[in-house]
Amino acid sequence: MTATTTQNTGAQPRNRSDIAAAGQTLLDVQNLEKFFPIRGGLMSRVVGNVKAVNDISFSVKRGEVVGLVGESGSGKTTAGRAILRLIEPTGGQVMFNGTDITKLSKGQMRDYRREMQIIFQDPFASLNPRMTVSDIIGEAMQIHNLHPGKERVDRIAELLQRVGLRPEHMGRYPHEFSGGQRQRIGIARALAVDPSFIVADEPVSALDVSIQAQVVNLIQDLQEELGLTVLFIAHDLHVVEYICDRMIVMYLGRIMEIAPSHELNRNPKHPYTEALLSAAPVPDPTVKRQRIILEGDIPSPINPPSGCVFRTRCRYAIADCANVVPELREISPNHYKACIRDDIL
Ligand SMILES: Nc1ncnc2c1ncn2[C@@H]1O[C@H](COP(=O)(O)OP(=O)(O)O)[C@@H](O)[C@H]1O
Ligand code: SF4
Ligand SMILES: [Mg+2]
Repeated sequence: MTATTTQNTGAQPRNRSDIAAAGQTLLDVQNLEKFFPIRGGLMSRVVGNVKAVNDISFSVKRGEVVGLVGESGSGKTTAGRAILRLIEPTGGQVMFNGTDITKLSKGQMRDYRREMQIIFQDPFASLNPRMTVSDIIGEAMQIHNLHPGKERVDRIAELLQRVGLRPEHMGRYPHEFSGGQRQRIGIARALAVDPSFIVADEPVSALDVSIQAQVVNLIQDLQEELGLTVLFIAHDLHVVEYICDRMIVMYLGRIMEIAPSHELNRNPKHPYTEALLSAAPVPDPTVKRQRIILEGDIPSPINPPSGCVFRTRCRYAIADCANVVPELREISPNHYKACIRDDIL
């Protein structure tokens, strides 16, 4: 099951979304799974699994920005890292530009590592405190033999300027910068090797609210300028609404809904998306939303509910919801949901 529709009408693309809609698939994730084994007993045998990512499928077109949203613990970071093989998937395929990268050896992965970069959530933990900015940004260039010699310094200076820092900052250490500036360094590091695809894992959640928009705008500018394809992970739907072409909603390791951002925000079709949206503050004061309280915590991914994993918190749940895992099906063009009920929402 792959949530892919290829629609190329042949019309002239007008804006970024149209360009992405007309483009080819760059990333095609098929039945991706990441289970973390739980060991116990004297023999340290596997006694269970944390089903962090459980059979997810979606695709991203070249030049597209896709949001991956859901509450904390829904499996977003694990999915992002498994796609990049920063952690090894336990099942499924990750097709990047037509190649299943899950089958590649370490050596074969090298070129793909350059193509696929990550911006981490925590700009404090993700920069080595003992390395200068120049070393941090230059490290990946060194590994991939890019911009050797004098050219490298010029390239680092150029990157720093591009992310809103100064070339003089090159010799400084991470602790000399604010959170927002550190995240700019993290962005420069990701761009250092000219990637085509970036996973941005909640790149602004650890930052002051006052500077979040600046960093999101920077990522958006760079995306447009460099034609990057981005998987933008967030727990707050409104942070990503305007930067993303489409959004994928995850809950307990599974995809609940996929739709163009505008459509998802105005016309959610999955009860989980409806609840998520109702909990988030609405930037437009004329939009009135009924507040739906999601009772209880997200259940344990070790023993997820049978059938629909959302059923223990769903206000529309019926007996059948416990029986089968709902298929992610297309309910209108480009709009997919994994819910058995069509008589709601
Ligand atoms: N290395 C790990 N070992 C065991 N469980 C993990 C590991 N990493 C993440 N998990 C679990 O997987 C689930 C999904 O985590 P994560 O992908 O970080 O979610 P999110 O990014 O959406 O908050 C959580 O229940 C988390 O505790
Ligand atoms: S399948 Fe049932 S429990 Fe799951 S979201 Fe739909 S109505 Fe709710
Ligand atoms: Mg996370």
